[in-house]
Amino acid sequence: MPTLTVTRRLHFNAAHRVHNATLSDAENRELFGKCNNPNWHGHNYLLEVSVTGPIDPKTGYVLDLAKLRDLVERELVSHLDHKNLNLDVPFMSGTNPTTENLVVACWKVLEPHIEPARLRRLRLWETDNNYVDYEGE
Ligand code: NI
Repeated sequence: MPTLTVTRRLHFNAAHRVHNATLSDAENRELFGKCNNPNWHGHNYLLEVSVTGPIDPKTGYVLDLAKLRDLVERELVSHLDHKNLNLDVPFMSGTNPTTENLVVACWKVLEPHIEPARLRRLRLWETDNNYVDYEGE
């Protein structure tokens, strides 16, 4: 049975401040630049959720991408969209909200809910030019 990977894209908008509290304000500004702005700033995030599995002979799908969309909206997007990642999102609490840390947190939330296929990769775009891939390792 062939194994395939299918992907659903979802958007959310969120505010954050990238900041390491163990460093000085000057070091934070130097390291994180605009993303260290004390009064927050926003990003239009794009999350690509890829799942892998065999084709279900009944449906011809790996899994129903509308059901995957509903699951990701319920478990992730509803908690992230139009929120402040530093203040409003319990699963990001205490975490410096870089794209890297955010995508790992998203994986931990989502992975237990993916069935019958398995979560293969999350790709999180923070800007049109920058994205991070995570495959659960
Ligand atoms: Ni930023």
